[in-house]
This record gives sequence, structure tokens and C-alpha cells, in this order.
Amino acid sequence: MNSSYLSVENVSITFDTDSGPLNVLDDVSLKVERGEFISLIGHSGCGKSTVLNIVAGLLQASIGGVLLENREVTEPGPDRAVVFQNHSLLPWLSVYDNVRLAVDQVFGRSKSRQERHQWTLHNLELVHMGHAIGQRPDQISGGMKQRVGIARALAMQPKVLLMDEPFGALDSLTRTHMQDSLMEIQARLNNTVIMITHDVDEAVLLSDRIVMMSNGPSARIGEILAVDLPRPRDRLPLADDPAYNHYRAEVLRFLHERHARPDVPTSNVGGDDQVEPEERPTRLKLAAG
Ligand SMILES: Nc1ncnc2c1ncn2[C@@H]1O[C@H](COP(=O)(O)OP(=O)(O)OP(=O)(O)O)[C@@H](O)[C@H]1O
Ligand SMILES: [Mg+2]
Repeated sequence: MNSSYLSVENVSITFDTDSGPLNVLDDVSLKVERGEFISLIGHSGCGKSTVLNIVAGLLQASIGGVLLENREVTEPGPDRAVVFQNHSLLPWLSVYDNVRLAVDQVFGRSKSRQERHQWTLHNLELVHMGHAIGQRPDQISGGMKQRVGIARALAMQPKVLLMDEPFGALDSLTRTHMQDSLMEIQARLNNTVIMITHDVDEAVLLSDRIVMMSNGPSARIGEILAVDLPRPRDRLPLADDPAYNHYRAEVLRFLHERHARPDVPTSNVGGDDQVEPEERPTRLKLAAG
């Protein structure tokens, strides 16, 4: 078998719910190379977070599993840092201490106190938060909190950075800045990233490949789009770039077609994926615009 850096292998998962078993993922397989930036996109409730949580080790697949450098993932670990949409900082700790805590957990034995201090500062500088190290989370903006969350994840030097709609709660200008910083950091550190997004432009701008999931239940990987745009990528010239617009249209086409012709039976549908049909195109339009 061809071994990859990260391999999601034939993953299926079924949850027990009040209305019976709910099969959310059906035979999902994905191979990710080291340094690759992957986006996961698909309609609300299809199972994107479930995929990410299985890779994170927070959920166990019912069938199949995940290999990272040929070792099976069985539990959460610092080699797979997760950044959630709602920056999960500890509110009573300063910006510095939020990052330092993670640094101490991962490098408590391997780095000296002084090295851990420098490493904490270095990662906060990387996300341009060096000026606010003494502030508490309630004293900084949402975008700044998200930066600290990313600094904390990067500081753990994870093999894989897992991001679940990391910029979803931010205003569009802040989001733009965060996307640019993430591209810059990834170019510098060559992180392997899996990011969930609902934003088609964000997916095309940032990704090497976009993994498009079919609607649930029993969601699968519908298509994978390789985004062959040279880096560094600059959003302004790309707006008029035919290749960029082609990729963008491909993703929109997938999402709209999946919406128009769901390829799944309507029985056994449950959970929070019951978005009213007329809401979905609006959401896509918003995400794309
Ligand atoms: N622990 C659980 N128990 C039962 N059902 C679950 C559980 N976790 C997720 N689900 C169901 O699995 C489906 C997929 O959920 P998931 O959160 O992965 O979707 P998603 O694609 O991330 O959606 P969104 O875009 O809205 O975040 C939903 O129907 C959800 O209700
Ligand atoms: Mg989700």
C-alpha cells in the first residue's frame, strides 16, 4: 500500500441517536501529503466536523481509521492541534499564558524554561500578537483571540493543524487578514493543514486541494479538486484570473448540484442538517460573495 503522511482509511461512523442509528460518514478515505493544505467543504451537517474530530482523535470511527506517519490515531494528541471557530482560550489566563500552557505541556521536558519563554513569544510574534501578551481574552477582539488560538496551535509544532471554520465568526476584513497571515505562516513553516470552511473563495485561495463532501446522511467524498495556482497567492490579481475563477466555479457547481440532486435517500435523515432548501443557495451566495 502506498503510504502517505496522513491517511484517512475507509472511515464510516454511526451515532446512536434518540431516533435510532444515524450513519453520518460512509467509507471516507483521504490521503494527505506532508505540507499539503486541504480544505473540506460541504453543506451544513454533512459531517465535516465529524471527519476532523476523527482525525483529531476526539471521535472514534465505527469502521476504518486514521494513520499519521503510519501510526494509528486512537486519542487526541499534541501532534494534531485543533483550532475551533470559537477560539477556546482560557479566559482567566493572559494571552502569553494561554500559549505558554500549551508550550509547557508539549515541551516541558525537552526545552528549558528560557527556551519555552522564547518559543511562546516567537509564536505570538508570528501571528502579530507580540504587543498584547499581557492582555486577557476578554480585553482583545475576536480576530486577536483567533490569532492567539492559532499561535497556541502552531506553538505545539503539530504534525497536522486541524481547523474547524477558524475564521467563520470574523468580519470580512479581519478574515482577509487572517487568511493572508495563515498563507504566510504556512509558506514559512510548511504545515500540513486540514481546514473546514463554508467560504468558497477562502477554500480556493488557501488550498492545494479542496475535498468536497456529498450531503449526509452517509456522506462521502464527492469530488477532490486540485488547485494548481502558483504561490504566493495574492487575492487581488486572482480575482481576475481565469484559472482562479474556474476553480471557484467548480466548487460552486458541486455544491449547487449536490443541493439540486441529493444522492441519498431521505429516510434516516436526522440531526441538525435539516436546513430549509431555500436557505442553502443564499448561504452559498453569501459564502461565495
Ligand atoms: N455525537 C453525535 N451524536 C449524534 N449525532 C451526531 C453527533 N455528532 C454529529 N452528529 C450528527 O452528524 C451529522 C454531521 O455533523 P457535523 O457536525 O460533522 O456536520 P458539519 O458538516 O460539520 O456541519 P456544519 O457545517 O453545520 O458545522 C449531523 O447530522 C449531526 O447532527
Ligand atoms: Mg461543523
